[in-house]
This record gives sequence, C-alpha cells and structure tokens, in this order.
Amino acid sequence: MKTIKELMQWRFACQHFDAEKKISEDLLKDLLDTARLAPNSFGIQAWKFIVVTDMELRKKLMPACYNQPQVMEASALVFFCARTDLTGENGVIARHVKLSHDVQGRSDAQSAGFSKMLNDVANSKSPEELKTWLQKQVYIPVEALILAAAEKEIDSCPMEGFSPAEVAKVLELPEYIHPTVLVSLGYRNMEQPKKVRFPLEEVVEFRN
Ligand SMILES: Cc1cc2nc3c(=O)[nH]c(=O)nc-3n(C[C@H](O)[C@H](O)[C@H](O)COP(=O)(O)O)c2cc1C
Repeated sequence: MKTIKELMQWRFACQHFDAEKKISEDLLKDLLDTARLAPNSFGIQAWKFIVVTDMELRKKLMPACYNQPQVMEASALVFFCARTDLTGENGVIARHVKLSHDVQGRSDAQSAGFSKMLNDVANSKSPEELKTWLQKQVYIPVEALILAAAEKEIDSCPMEGFSPAEVAKVLELPEYIHPTVLVSLGYRNMEQPKKVRFPLEEVVEFRN
C-alpha cells in the first residue's frame, strides 16, 4: 500500500482521461464517503458535493467550464459547493445542532448554547464574508477525494476553471449553493509530467 507521500507523488492534475474507462458507482460513492469525513470549521459541513456523469448535462456544462477536455473525458465530475443557508429553522446550523445532540448525546442546554454560538458567528459576517469563509472549507474534502482516488489508482484534476454563475445556471442550483471547485475523476490517458515544486527549504521556514 502506498504512503500518503507516495500517493501525492503519483497523482497529478490529469488533463486527459480515457473516456472509455469508468469508475464503478460503488467505488465512486466510497470515495465521496471518505471526502465527507473531512474536517471543517465548527463541524457544520456547509457543503454539497454534486456529481455529474450524464453526457448531455456535461455537454451543457462545457462552455461554462471553458471547454476543458476533462469535462467530457472524465468518468465523473464532482462539483464541490459551499452552502450559505446556515440560519433558520431548516438551515445547516439547526440540522447540525440536532444531529450533534442525537449522536454525541448533548444536553438540551448544551445544544441551545451551541446553536446560539453558531448563529452568532453566522450573523456576524456579511454575505460576502460568509461565502468566502464557507468556500475555503470545501478545499479540504477536495484533497481528501483526490487522495482517496489515488489510493485506488484513480486519476483526478482539481479545477477552478469554470464560471460559477454559469455552472449554477446549468445545474439549476438554488442561490445558496455556490459551486467552488470541480474535481474530475477517471483514468489517465496521458503521461504524468514531472512535478514542479520549490525546494523544501524555500517553502518551509522553521522558527525554532
Ligand atoms: C484550486 C485549483 C484549481 C485548478 N484549476 C485547474 C483547471 O481549471 N484546469 C486544469 O487543467 N488544472 C487545474 N488545476 C491543476 C493545477 O494546474 C495543478 O495542480 C498544478 O499545476 C500542479 O500540478 P500537479 O497537480 O500535476 O502536481 C487546479 C488546481 C487547483 C489546486
């Protein structure tokens, strides 16, 4: 079994996939299940992972994704979206507080305090700040998905090269779902280029 470092060496931003080779649905679900476990601020999981495999839908997404080849060649596309419907009766916070109450056996008083704290955080931010904060969170499951895929020798490409507004239109998303990063998944149909990375000494600064 490869170490995380070996998986990081093995993976690369795949531009061309073998369009004939598909990831099984069970395996895809399992990779997404791993991504779902990623850490996130306060644990509220204000995200949605939208999986697209349908070719007709992909054709519609092509212009919104600047005609990048992965959109048609990959086995699956996963749009990582931030969701900003935090507050309110059916909001992410209320659902997370209830789930934490049930799963971790919090008392009603603890849950009420947790709910107040989370709502205060959400209400302290402007809509733009809220969106930025939540969009940062989705990059964590993105990397988890990439590594989980690599472990199964599945290639991937993280992609920000798309118009979020156009993608939202094609996918008919409600205004509180914000497409942030796309991960295309499949099997490579190209040589892996050499890694280009600054040396460790340049990237890392120890303050011992
Ligand atoms: C946030 C993010 C957005 C990216 N967007 C695209 C993209 O739209 N299209 C693409 O082909 N590659 C995209 N990449 C891949 C990078 O170009 C690639 O990771 C980088 O050049 C380093 O190469 P490597 O990942 O193969 O080691 C993106 C990577 C990241 C992390």
